[in-house]
Amino acid sequence: MPDPTWDAAALVARYDEVRAHTETLAAPLSPEDQTVQSMPDVSPTKWHRAHVTWFFETFVLAGHEPSFTPYQDQYWFLFNSYYEGVGPRYARPNRGLISRPGVHDVGLYRADVDARMRDLVTTLDGGTLDKLASTIELGFHHEQQHQELLLMDIKHVLSVNPLRPVYAGTPGAPSEPDPLGWVEVEGGLVEVGHRGGGFGFDNELPLHQQWLEPYRLADRLVTNGEWLQFMADGGYARHELWLSDGWARVQAEGWRAPFYWTEVDGVWLEHTLNGTWPVDPGLPVSHVSHYEADAYAAWAGKRLPTEGEWEHAVVADGQAEAAEAGGNLADTETYHPRAAGPSTGHLRQVYGDCWEWTSSAYLAYPGYRPSSGAIGEYNGKFMSGQMVLRGGCALTPPGHARATYRNFFPPGSRWALSGVRLADGGVR
Ligand SMILES: [Fe+2]
Repeated sequence: MPDPTWDAAALVARYDEVRAHTETLAAPLSPEDQTVQSMPDVSPTKWHRAHVTWFFETFVLAGHEPSFTPYQDQYWFLFNSYYEGVGPRYARPNRGLISRPGVHDVGLYRADVDARMRDLVTTLDGGTLDKLASTIELGFHHEQQHQELLLMDIKHVLSVNPLRPVYAGTPGAPSEPDPLGWVEVEGGLVEVGHRGGGFGFDNELPLHQQWLEPYRLADRLVTNGEWLQFMADGGYARHELWLSDGWARVQAEGWRAPFYWTEVDGVWLEHTLNGTWPVDPGLPVSHVSHYEADAYAAWAGKRLPTEGEWEHAVVADGQAEAAEAGGNLADTETYHPRAAGPSTGHLRQVYGDCWEWTSSAYLAYPGYRPSSGAIGEYNGKFMSGQMVLRGGCALTPPGHARATYRNFFPPGSRWALSGVRLADGGVR
């Protein structure tokens, strides 16, 4: 859904803004930092910087630039992520082996594509630009997705370094756990999905109706302190709390705490982008898988919300507009979830802090149609074996969070900045 207000000047201005922000995020990282791939799910920083450039080159320049030729033939192969329709690609788990092009050369690639994008946008006729604006806008949001991934990924890269380098920032003062409250939601026949007006991915369409029995959502995220109680009560040792696949992962991988927690001399420490500090009981628990979130909810006698419940509750609570609702997104530069703060009678921590696991499988909405061509591979082909998360996190760029946004990860994923909001009720 393109924003009809784009003209050439606005597109170039936004293009420059989004592209510059990626470079700002990469700036604290050395060339060596930017080259490491610490596990298959993680991509090196310089790969992110090149891949988002490849996206504009492939989906904008290639079809519209007179006498187009790729910047480098090999880059076409190296920086294709998953687009079968574009051609073959380099194996994802081996991205950390690409010592060349180096960081400097990736910078040159970015600068070349940037100059060509500006030229193209300012010279296309109005009708062609109108048609192309939606793809360019998709490129903005794609790059913002990768800005978030860049931070999630470098967090893992730095976590496996025994020196535990700090990316940015300093830890906040220890916070006090705040009592958990509940927000009652009437339910009924509600609308779910993107309503038009402003950008949305194709997977947020079409707007459709769902029936929701009355339910309630926790007014804040589950905290580290509550998670410590779950652990102390044998949460990771009681099979009856776990989905079968989750219990298998607990056994196979020895899970006994959230992903970035380590126990040193009886004290739990948490690795963050601000460094490693003692687990703060008042902060939201983060980097837990869907399996862990579900087991916690079972332990608490509650459940996870469906994505429809989450979205409707946010709208019903008057927080449909992320920009107005605010939240701990990446522009706070905390790069870590914050404490919920005092009760407000409304849902807290809706946008930012932690992506919130839902109980909904990532599936097509009724009537969903992916875009045609290779760009149709963006979302639709991943609608198998993944669960939906809502709300954004402390690494999400502002302007990239909205009530209808459907993030998704496999249920065993822990490296994403994911947390837990409980639901209750919803049955006749
Ligand atoms: Fe991508």
